[in-house]
Parts: sequence; C-alpha cells; structure tokens
Amino acid sequence: MDTSTPQTWRIVDVLKWSKDFLFNKGIESPQIEVEWMLRDVLNCSRIDIYLNHERPLSAEELSTFKKILVERVTGKPLQYILGYTEFMGYKIRVNRNVLIPRPETEIIVEKVLNILTQDQNSNPQVLDVGTGSGCIAISIAAACQKCSVLALDISREVLDLAKQNAKLNKVSDRICFVKKDILKDFPDTGRFNIIVSNPPYVDGEYWDNLPDTVKKYEPEIALKPKGDSLIFYRRLSQLATRHLTAGGVLAVEIGGTYQEKDVISVLRENGLENFEVIKDYLEQSRGILARLNK
Ligand SMILES: C[S@@+](CC[C@H](N)C(=O)[O-])C[C@H]1O[C@@H](n2cnc3c(N)ncnc32)[C@H](O)[C@@H]1O
Repeated sequence: MDTSTPQTWRIVDVLKWSKDFLFNKGIESPQIEVEWMLRDVLNCSRIDIYLNHERPLSAEELSTFKKILVERVTGKPLQYILGYTEFMGYKIRVNRNVLIPRPETEIIVEKVLNILTQDQNSNPQVLDVGTGSGCIAISIAAACQKCSVLALDISREVLDLAKQNAKLNKVSDRICFVKKDILKDFPDTGRFNIIVSNPPYVDGEYWDNLPDTVKKYEPEIALKPKGDSLIFYRRLSQLATRHLTAGGVLAVEIGGTYQEKDVISVLRENGLENFEVIKDYLEQSRGILARLNK
C-alpha cells in the first residue's frame, strides 16, 4: 500500500488491496481480518463498512490502518495487535499473558448456560479453573444474572487482566478472582453446582504440530501441561469430587476426539458419571460433561 502518493483510498479500495495482500502473505481469513481492522480504525460496525464503501479514509486513519497491517504480517495475532477479541458477543481485552479465547470454547459455555437455565437454584455457584482472560467466567456471569462465579488462575498478571474484563462487562460484583495453583491446592471452601475448565491440554505430537505463531505468541503455560498430559483432568476430577454439589456438573474442554476416551476414564476413576461428549464445528470431540451423583 503506497500511501506516499496522493491517491484517495476509499474503504472499498482498502478492503480489496489489503485482502489480497494478506492472502498472499498466507493469512488464513484475510477478509474477516481486514474488516476487523477497518472496524477498529474507523470505530464502526461491520455493516457500516459495507454501507459506506465509497468513504475515503483520512491520512491519519490510513496511517493507523497501515501500521496494523504491517504488524499483522509479522505473524502476530490480530487480537494481540488490537488488544481485544470477542467471546460470546462480549468484548474481552487480551495481552500476551493470556490465551486468545477460541470459538470452540464458546460451545462449552453454551452447554453450561443451558444447564444453568434449567437449574431451579436461586444462586448457582460456578467455579472456573484457569480463567485466563476471564472469558468463560464473564460470559457465564453476564448471561446468567443469578450466578456467582469463583475464577482461579495461577498467574497474578492474568488475573489483573481478567478483573479489568469483568469490570468492562459489568459483572465484577458476581465474580471473585483468586490466585491459586490448582495442581498444588484446592479452593479453601465451597460447593459448586458447576465446575468449568479449559485447562492446558496440548502435548506430545499435538504440541509439536501446533502452528508456529501460536507457540511464538501465546503463553505456553496456558497450553501445555508439564509431564503427564492428563494431569489437569486428574486434578479437576479430584476437585469435582470434593467441591461439586450432589448432582453437580464438571464441564471440561479437551483437545479433540483423540483425548475423549482417556479423559472419560480419568473422570470415571474419580467417581464421575453420566458423560456427555460435546462436538465442535468440525465434528471433533471438544468437551466432556460429567455429573457427580452422590
Ligand atoms: C487454556 S488456558 C484457558 C484460558 C481461558 N479460560 C480460555 O478458555 O480462554 C488455561 C489457563 O490455565 C492457567 N493455568 C495453568 N496452570 C495452572 C495451574 N497450575 N493452576 C491454575 N491455573 C493454571 C493458565 O494461566 C491459563 O490462563
């Protein structure tokens, strides 16, 4: 994009040029990304972009847009460049201390919200283990006004950002963020109707085959368990037997169909039952729900 010459760049020109540019640089969804960059720079909605195709960008807008584009082709995820993403329709700030929330995780949250909707309890208690940006805890608290959530993470920096996100989405009063290493420690007290977690689960060949940009930019501690690849599921099932109410549900994200049997057998060993496998958009097993019937 040669912006040194006095050419007028309309939205339609920027869209087309940048989409081709990103495509040629191997970016997977160039159209979506360019739309998002434009929405950010012009502070408008996606529909505004298409209703105002002929609108020229000012020199300042063009320069800001160009900076984002140049940074994006270094491989840095757009979410880290812009500093936010969307999860379940909520704006979630991200930085390099936290994993970028993924659309697959929304499927687990939707399941949890279905269960909570049917729950007669006037104040269901939810525990989110490994909260990261807070995306799961925040979207549950925002969609289920009667819920209270305890959100745990090992990292102070992560929790600071999660707290900001809770404030941004006006649910701070119903989420308590606590620093805890879940592999060493359990919550001090409490019984929960639902325990939900998207734990670190990428290991072995799946770690080796992870895209370089994920390994380079996203925090390893959020993705990769150390040693035993099922360590978090073992620990979460112990946590569930101690801290779920009778009939309570553990909802965990898993890496794919390849982990389904092993995770179910870990949960079964610890007394959980009534397994339900949640499929993602690619028909991969993405989550497991289990109940504590005691
Ligand atoms: C896969 S990320 C999930 C983040 C967020 N819940 C999401 O779904 O996008 C896992 C999170 O677990 C946290 N974590 C890693 N080890 C932990 C531990 N031992 N105790 C508590 N949290 C841990 C990481 O800091 C990270 O935020």
